[in-house]
Amino acid sequence: MSAGVTLCVVQETRLDTARIRAARRVIDPIFLDTPLYRCEALEPDLGCAVSIKLETANPVRSFKARGTEVIATQLADSDSRAVVCASAGNLGQALAWSGRGRGLDVTVVASRFAPVAKLDRIRALGARLELVDGDFDLARERAAALARNDGIRLVEDSLDIETCEGAATIGLELVDSAPSFDTVLIALGGGALATGVGQVVKTAAPGVEVICVQPLGAPAMTHSWRQRRVVTTDSTNTIADGVAGRCPIPEVLDDLLLVADDAVLVQEASIITGMRLLLQHAGLVVEPSAALGIAAILEDRDRFAGRHVVTIVCGSNVDVDAYRRWVGAAAHHGA
Ligand SMILES: Cc1ncc(COP(=O)(O)O)c(C=O)c1O
Repeated sequence: MSAGVTLCVVQETRLDTARIRAARRVIDPIFLDTPLYRCEALEPDLGCAVSIKLETANPVRSFKARGTEVIATQLADSDSRAVVCASAGNLGQALAWSGRGRGLDVTVVASRFAPVAKLDRIRALGARLELVDGDFDLARERAAALARNDGIRLVEDSLDIETCEGAATIGLELVDSAPSFDTVLIALGGGALATGVGQVVKTAAPGVEVICVQPLGAPAMTHSWRQRRVVTTDSTNTIADGVAGRCPIPEVLDDLLLVADDAVLVQEASIITGMRLLLQHAGLVVEPSAALGIAAILEDRDRFAGRHVVTIVCGSNVDVDAYRRWVGAAAHHGA
């Protein structure tokens, strides 16, 4: 190498832009091109410009079907028509929806403590539902055992690249909308959403800040990101059931380290206030995980002041009674 030439080693994630664009072509259009709009009514409370990317106005009320559409399309073209996944509730619903339309035999393993609304919808969409007497990470173990014993396809959320590619199509829509925003706030669970969207944003608009948000009560991936090694926790304690994992996946952490600028933790009270603000000022009923972005702004208004922030409103599958309890209590206390 001649003097003065710097060898620049660009580290790459597992994600690839051409494959993400290809994923867009197989996803049912009902899940694509979701609304992206400035929500000025939220801004006095948040102290910054806020845009919402709305991923709840579809048949499964979350973004997860973007990924399951990719997987189900592949399976429909293959000999194996049986598939099993572990789910906190939304992936299972999405896989059930995508599989039903393609004649797949779908089994979902979930915690018996998952929201009833999610479990009911998984069954209603025709999937076989197996409940474990434990949390999401136990459901993961059980799903893997089922796949091994029955010789069927295991879908591992965030590890299977299709789940990340599906979520990444949200990123394409964000950057194709002529990005005038400074920051995107992304709920962080297993990491498919954050690595997918982060990959596209960092490739197409590297100046846009990618911030992941987790509850303080389920901080494993955030701790892992900060320490640059997998950190697990013994338990989780949060109402944000969609992001409550204990055991981060090493490959996903590696990707997240390359595309996220920050990972922050928020309190339960901020999540609840975020849910209430989204109801009051945006007319949106959301599940707790979908309010994480608003919670992050509430907890650090100075950081976001004067900036234009996009938050992905990523799910609205809530048990109505629990929702009323949370949001009613927040309103009562004037939070
Ligand atoms: C509503 C909602 N938000 C956020 C997430 C977290 O996404 P990921 O697991 O891709 O990080 C999930 C995961 O299922 C979810 O259902």
